[in-house]
Amino acid sequence: GKLQKTYFNSKRKIVSESVPAKIQTTSKTDEYKPRDERKSFYKLQEERREQAERCVLINCPPKINEKKFIKQLSRHGNINNYFFYESFGMYAVVEFSEKDSIGSLREATNIPHSQHEATVPFKSRLLSIKANSGNQSFSQPSVQCLKQTPIGVNELIQKLSSKDSVDQQLYSLTEEYQLTEENVCLRFLVCSLLKDIAAAYFPECIIRPFGSSVNGFGKLGCDLDMFLDLDAISRGNIKQPAGGLSLEYQMKRTSSERSATQSILAVIGECVDQFGPGCVGMQKILNARCPLVRFAHQPSGFQCDLTANNRVAMKSSELLYLYSQLDRRVRAMVFSLRCWARVHSITSNIAGAWITNFSLTVMVIFFLQQRSPAVLPTLDQLRDLAEPHDKCTIEGNDCTIVSDLSKIQDQGNTETLEHLLQEFFEFYGNFAFSRLSINIRKGKEQYKPEAAPLHIQNPFEPTLNVSKNVNNTQLENLVALCQESAWLLQKGGAVGPGHNRDTPWGFAALLQPSVSQAARSKGRRRKTLEPASKRMKSLLESLKSSKTSAGAADSSK
Ligand code: GTP
Ligand code: MG
Repeated sequence: GKLQKTYFNSKRKIVSESVPAKIQTTSKTDEYKPRDERKSFYKLQEERREQAERCVLINCPPKINEKKFIKQLSRHGNINNYFFYESFGMYAVVEFSEKDSIGSLREATNIPHSQHEATVPFKSRLLSIKANSGNQSFSQPSVQCLKQTPIGVNELIQKLSSKDSVDQQLYSLTEEYQLTEENVCLRFLVCSLLKDIAAAYFPECIIRPFGSSVNGFGKLGCDLDMFLDLDAISRGNIKQPAGGLSLEYQMKRTSSERSATQSILAVIGECVDQFGPGCVGMQKILNARCPLVRFAHQPSGFQCDLTANNRVAMKSSELLYLYSQLDRRVRAMVFSLRCWARVHSITSNIAGAWITNFSLTVMVIFFLQQRSPAVLPTLDQLRDLAEPHDKCTIEGNDCTIVSDLSKIQDQGNTETLEHLLQEFFEFYGNFAFSRLSINIRKGKEQYKPEAAPLHIQNPFEPTLNVSKNVNNTQLENLVALCQESAWLLQKGGAVGPGHNRDTPWGFAALLQPSVSQAARSKGRRRKTLEPASKRMKSLLESLKSSKTSAGAADSSK
């Protein structure tokens, strides 16, 4: 692991004297490695899942003696890692080197009893540590808690304004917002705790995180999307009949896969609600296109969405992860634009006609495929690089993508982030949304197959539009904001180093509320429309020529 030695030596010294624990402190998930040193998505997920099974989550009194705490837990086995954080109280995540240590710890753990309350006797890996009265050892200086939420926008604007270039601003924003190694570890732990509940019915099940928790674009505080994977149950299903007779399980039958998913989620959701310690506010949203149960996991502070039978979403997460790892600029662009969109209410926490973070991310990827040379490969190129073991078909759709990152050639694009950002705003400020669809599989715009204000082809389900929910007003807001931001960045981007650092400049200036107000006022919009028409003309021309060369294949989409 990448231990941050300086921190280890200075602040955790007391611990290292008595406990041979390897302590990892806040580390960034961002460290940029060459492609051939990067782990495949599945390998990384499997490692984290296995690690989570060796972890416990412990609620601690606010003033705990770290040294004694760790020493006490070490009686049950070697501790690999641990950290503290706050969420309605103080918690510690403790990772043992062996899973068996948890059994030993459990044997030493009591069931709480109070004369006034009853408990559901479900024993999980969420524990509490109590300070025995009169035990002085627990009233020591408090421990260092790792933050699990990002800084506010105003503080961010200030921070970015002190940077020397727009590129530095974007990288700095990414550093501030991205999930830490510990936060990811906590996400896998919550999945693992929920799996223990679901395993009462389905011992072979796995609860896997997907979406922004694993796709490389997760921001501290983002929701935890999970899916209940029951595939392991049917794996290796074909057994040789012994003596001519074959045995079969009798199973409950349902009318469709969807209704099976709904009843499984209803029951698991009920168990989580009734028996899951710390799980509150259960909502069962079973009639959605993708049925889910939603609840809050208080000890972690995560808003949780649990789905089942959702392999395509997992594949989309893998795809985004792959793109996020190919070039350092990708994450910086996506984090910054997600932040920009959120600040100006282009995206929202509530479902509605807004553009989702997922759609916005696909738009950024598409834009980066348009550069010359391209920053990112097309999905078809990723499929063509795949090896036989990468082959994947889900519900009749070819979802094959290469898993070995080192096979993907860098095209040598060296544009600065500032330039790419400027071009992004101009690209979408002038895009012919009314006729064209965004398609990252081909890396080329296509004619829209259906009338929707914004059409973004779903990467793995080509008949679906990922931005079907977006209405005209929301699209217009996005376009206006792009135009306004293009104009401002061009004007203000020049304010480089040496300016007054108290005034927001560069990307920081684009995060101010005045930007969206200006974008909505018509006067400003006209100003930027001039270059728009010019670009539109050239776009149309390029389209005409691509149509004649690509023939009917594209336009039939
Ligand atoms: P956050 O906004 O940070 O939560 O980003 P997210 O990527 O996790 O988005 P969200 O929680 O809305 O959705 C989780 C995952 O579901 C996404 O990463 C996608 O893989 C998938 N997803 C979300 N919206 C759509 C959609 O409209 N179509 C399809 N096919 N998949 C979607
Ligand atoms: Mg999410």
